[in-house]
Amino acid sequence: MTVPRHLAVIMDGNGRWAERRRRPRAIGHRAGARAVNVCIDFCLERGIDALTLFAFSSENWGRPEEEVGALMKLFLGALDREVDELHRRGVRVRFIGERERFAADIHQRMQAAEALTAGNTRLHLNIAASYGGRQDIAQAARALAADALAGRLRVEDIDESALDARISLADLPAPDLFIRTGGDHRISNFLLWQLAYTELWFTDVLWPDLDADLLQRALDDYARRERRFGLTSAQVAGGATENLPA
Ligand code: IPE
Ligand code: IPE
Ligand code: MG
Repeated sequence: MTVPRHLAVIMDGNGRWAERRRRPRAIGHRAGARAVNVCIDFCLERGIDALTLFAFSSENWGRPEEEVGALMKLFLGALDREVDELHRRGVRVRFIGERERFAADIHQRMQAAEALTAGNTRLHLNIAASYGGRQDIAQAARALAADALAGRLRVEDIDESALDARISLADLPAPDLFIRTGGDHRISNFLLWQLAYTELWFTDVLWPDLDADLLQRALDDYARRERRFGLTSAQVAGGATENLPA
């Protein structure tokens, strides 16, 4: 069975999970943090190489102060609690997004988690925090411009691969499978560039209700799909892979 090398997930539905129980939204986020562990365990068991989780979008800063505050507390707690165990299990942790926007204590723990786990290779765990896909493309464009101005890059050499080298997660294959929980069918400014040929999978299940069976269902559906990358079915069946992206 074809297992995705890289799984990208929008963990949505925490707020509604809590509201259905007439509880504050922060309780939903806490329950959502448990589901993160379910997802990581699943990836480790199935031998998935990379997992990218959308934890907090650039736009989520605009939520009520109380909710943002509760999320920050949760991030801090999770960084304190989980990183050693992730390290022990061979997980490399990285953060993508505008980390400068976080308070110094969170920022420092992000750096420390990355430094501690930098040598691990069993699972690449990428946490998108204060992340926006458009912002990611803009920062890659800025890096291209800076290299061009400094004489390191000719303008005529700016192509897809040059931008690709400067976008988040450049060292990993693009996500093979994208999962969004919570019932909405949209990308919400997640990895816009990287998802160009990713298989998309949506479920109404709310993120805190995630379990391994649901993830397995997504993987089973994925294994049944034919990824053509613009080619014909016959070409793909014939192994015409030289035109396919990595
Ligand atoms: C996802 O759950 C978590 C974050 C965006 C931080 P939501 O908080 O968006 O939950 P819903 O979509 O309101 O139910
Ligand atoms: C996307 O969910 C961001 C995260 C899960 C972190 P949102 O709840 O913010 O997305 P919209 O507002 O429904 O598009
Ligand atoms: Mg939501």
